[in-house]
Amino acid sequence: MKVAYNIPEFREARRKLNGSLGFVPTMGYLHEGHLELVRRARAENKNTAVSIFINPTQFGPREDLAAYPRDPDRDLSRLREEKVDLVLMPDAAEMYPPGYGTWVNVEGVTERLEGAARPGHFRGVATVVAKLFNIVEPTRAYFGEKDAQQLIVIKKMAADLDMGVQVITVPTVREFDGLAMSSRNVYLDLEERESALVLHKALTLARNLHSKGERNADVIRKEMTALIQEEPRAKIDYVSIADASTLDELSSIDRPAVVSLAVKIGKTRLIDNITLAG
Ligand code: PAJ
Repeated sequence: MKVAYNIPEFREARRKLNGSLGFVPTMGYLHEGHLELVRRARAENKNTAVSIFINPTQFGPREDLAAYPRDPDRDLSRLREEKVDLVLMPDAAEMYPPGYGTWVNVEGVTERLEGAARPGHFRGVATVVAKLFNIVEPTRAYFGEKDAQQLIVIKKMAADLDMGVQVITVPTVREFDGLAMSSRNVYLDLEERESALVLHKALTLARNLHSKGERNADVIRKEMTALIQEEPRAKIDYVSIADASTLDELSSIDRPAVVSLAVKIGKTRLIDNITLAG
């Protein structure tokens, strides 16, 4: 496994590869969710590349950039075990040198949900992923359903800008009790970890109501909200039932829908989602 700490070094190693390249962009502190993406990339491509870069431009001024967990040595040993070929670990000064001034703004879908709660977040995500695609030149790039809106944004960017990268969706990997794996789960203390289950419980409730035939989105949103409000450590940011391709809120579930939510457990903001067939 070749680890490149800067862009020229990565490009030189990239040039030597023959055949398809599967790419997994990450911010590190790797867990089984990330590794599932890596395994898919490896299964479907001749070569595999992973980037580890905590992208400062996707964090708001009051967010957790400084506290974001990191453990590069452990990350690299996990990637070695997965037989990854190439790792890119640039520093922020190389990705955003003084005078940096080009940004990718994806319209529409970025205005809602995570975009509304975290102004500028998707501008930072789209910009760094565009840069990474230009550096890595992957055949396919792998993203988790865990961040459903991010996936929609990246797919739209890649299509609108003719990037020629196939964007592949990988289902959410969960802990034994249903909590979606996330690097941010380490912020939770024992009691909060228990409370955090309320996200999965609310999504399960939505799935059950839907499978019993409930199609009124307001009814499902209300039941989910009531369930979460029973948990004293939880504070709802949003509960959404939206069209799976545009993320427009639905009043009736008459097409594929994403049920998504953002909930603060203590100081930790968690997100999760499921898709309903319609
Ligand atoms: P990060 O949060 O490190 O996630 C990297 C990738 O892993 C994303 O595609 C994310 O959706 C996926 N992922 C995270 N948890 C997952 C889980 N439990 N199951 C399946 N996939 C999961 O998302 C980012 O980094 C950044 O925004 C990035 C795309 C790297 C741009 O900076």
